[in-house]
Amino acid sequence: MTSLSRSDRSQNRIDRESALRAFELDPAFLHLNHGSYGAVPREVRLEQDRWRAAIERNPTGFFTDEYPPLIRSTAAHVARRLGGEARDWVFCENATAAVNAILQSLPLRPGDEILTTSHAYGAVEKAMALTARRRGLNLCVAEVPPLVASDEEVASAIAARLSAATRLLVVDHVTSATATIFPVRRIAEIARAAGVPVLVDGAHAPGQIALDVPSLGVDWYTGNAHKWLFAPRGCGLLWTKPQRQDETRPAVLSHGTEQGYTAAFDWIGTRDPSPWFVFETAALAHDAFGGEALMADNRVLAAEGAAEIAAALGARIAAPAPMRGSMAALVLNENYNDVEGAAAYRRKLSQEHRIMAPVHVFAGMLWLRISAQVYNSPEDYRRLVSACREMLA
Ligand SMILES: Cc1ncc(COP(=O)(O)O)c(C=O)c1O
Repeated sequence: MTSLSRSDRSQNRIDRESALRAFELDPAFLHLNHGSYGAVPREVRLEQDRWRAAIERNPTGFFTDEYPPLIRSTAAHVARRLGGEARDWVFCENATAAVNAILQSLPLRPGDEILTTSHAYGAVEKAMALTARRRGLNLCVAEVPPLVASDEEVASAIAARLSAATRLLVVDHVTSATATIFPVRRIAEIARAAGVPVLVDGAHAPGQIALDVPSLGVDWYTGNAHKWLFAPRGCGLLWTKPQRQDETRPAVLSHGTEQGYTAAFDWIGTRDPSPWFVFETAALAHDAFGGEALMADNRVLAAEGAAEIAAALGARIAAPAPMRGSMAALVLNENYNDVEGAAAYRRKLSQEHRIMAPVHVFAGMLWLRISAQVYNSPEDYRRLVSACREMLA
């Protein structure tokens, strides 16, 4: 459906400008942050516009008669691509909403523990912390080194913090601050042996790494199609293991609350469902850009870009290459805690150099994160190196 395919890209190394034309990104900027908010190919956005227009022609007819079967047939597309059955998949606005749903669904009692890691996404950490405070739970944090060396290092840090009081483990699949892929299958094995249910925050996973969700052995898995799978923002996904569906409900309760898992999530009050209805169009765009080959291409581009930055700036990269996907995080300063200073660096990159890339503080260090997507090329990271040299001088 898109005019650019991966084979074109591989054969001709399509230049950034041509690839960019399939998107609506402002060419005045160098976009090196696909990970945070994604980017929607024009054809996907147009399809979303068509859905909105169709709904607008007869809102009553649409929501009363067409919506219920449509949302379920759309869930079947998700199941076909990410594994499992349509009845196990529901749509949410985003991964944050899905995590909040699970936190509120579980019958946790005072003294129970939620275990997470020091790499947990900030917003999710805040939701867990407030849930814990409100309900008298303990939020325990497994300290995973910011620059991990191996899967085993992550797994053993988590194993060491599981206790008889742990009632839920919340773990990222691809971390935000350090762009590290955690070994969720191995982590789930360890948690299962301890009788602890696992919620995976896979916000960055769909479209960045190959996924067969049910085979991971976890209890809940949330991902965003609006990051790496090219869907419009608001296309969050949640998979729930069948045995957990009776207790799993959205954070916002509405008409479907007492009608089972899918009914409860399918109707959370009146919303714009158009991002979900273009899930398959977005996934087809991902296929047209190469699908698995695109993911592999992006992985190589991110690794090469990271290596170039690391060599030029003497910066360490957060994880070994096999633990990285289409992103990489590099340490610009190993002893840094100034959040405002990091924001100023980010603004400098965008305002003076026209480069969009996150600069943040994590674990007492200053980090730069890069993303690699079909519209990026090796030159982009060289431009980033020059900008960073100036920025840090
Ligand atoms: C690991 C992780 N979890 C959750 C989120 C939140 O995603 P959303 O804002 O779509 O809910 C992000 C966003 O980048 C993330 O990186």
